[in-house]
Amino acid sequence: MTATAPVIRIENLGKTYAGGFDALKSINLDIDEGEIFALLGPNGAGKTTLINIICGIVTKTTGKVLVNGFDSVGEFRQTRSMIGLVPQELTTETFESVWATTAFSRGLFGKPPDPDHLERVLKSLSLWDKKDNIIMTLSGGMKRRVLIAKALAHEPKVLFLDEPTAGVDVELRQDMWDVVRGLRESGVTIILTTHYIEEAEQMADRIGVINHGELILVQDKNKLMRELGRKQLILNLDEPLNEIPASLDSFDLGFGNDASELVYSYDTQAEHTGITSLLSALSRADIRFHDVKTTQSSLEEIFVDLVKRIK
Ligand SMILES: Nc1ncnc2c1ncn2[C@@H]1O[C@H](COP(=O)(O)OP(=O)(O)OP(=O)(O)O)[C@@H](O)[C@H]1O
Ligand SMILES: [Mg+2]
Repeated sequence: MTATAPVIRIENLGKTYAGGFDALKSINLDIDEGEIFALLGPNGAGKTTLINIICGIVTKTTGKVLVNGFDSVGEFRQTRSMIGLVPQELTTETFESVWATTAFSRGLFGKPPDPDHLERVLKSLSLWDKKDNIIMTLSGGMKRRVLIAKALAHEPKVLFLDEPTAGVDVELRQDMWDVVRGLRESGVTIILTTHYIEEAEQMADRIGVINHGELILVQDKNKLMRELGRKQLILNLDEPLNEIPASLDSFDLGFGNDASELVYSYDTQAEHTGITSLLSALSRADIRFHDVKTTQSSLEEIFVDLVKRIK
């Protein structure tokens, strides 16, 4: 292995479920070591299917997956031991204690007991004071953190988080992301799915968008937001307008919250944003304003737009 080889390589991966439904259609994707990769897509797009195939829980129909160069089917024991999975569905041994279930998870991968490691993991997830609790007695958000503790028990190189913060309160969500960032700093590669797109915006280095089983886009997050993001210039007018004068038609202006707010959308990548000519056209039309601000579209808006376009 060279240092630049991807930690996960997915080649022509396809999945047809019994009954003939094509959940994944020839996916190709490399995940680099140490990155946080966010997989976005609407319900039923194929995110969980993809993750579960990499983790060896669902069988693929075509193609192959390599984890650190090992084949996910032929060398399953090696690949699985390098992977931690926090599944979308809550499944925990409800009558076990937090400590026992986490320790057992480590043992499953043939790793010798390491109480210090487990202590660090439980503390980082604020579960230390609950370590002797039976899982049944925990709240929903705590159960989700137990799933993360279990996934980290055997010190995986790659961590999959399938909607880890669904149903988790805002404060805890922030805590969990701190844990994830800390893991990345310690060299763990993270692949996550989320429906909270601002979470991907905050966390991810790269974004993949999957729709109807096809990977429709893979892009560096900052680049994506620069390229697809639109900016808006919002002008607060001195006097509300009855209508937008015809002399401004070419700018495709709209009203904001009311007729005293004019909104001009422009492409951040364009050579000419058109702002200078807009301002002179406004002055010619004798439209005065007392305030200007700009807004930039969020990843959420970009995402909704993308998926709508592909439908
Ligand atoms: N065991 C199965 N048998 C048949 N079809 C399945 C099975 N599991 C999933 N599917 C179908 O495959 C498609 C993809 O499902 P998947 O769970 O991968 O979506 P997802 O992107 O994770 O969605 P969500 O955001 O809702 O979690 C869906 O249409 C689903 O109904
Ligand atoms: Mg899913």
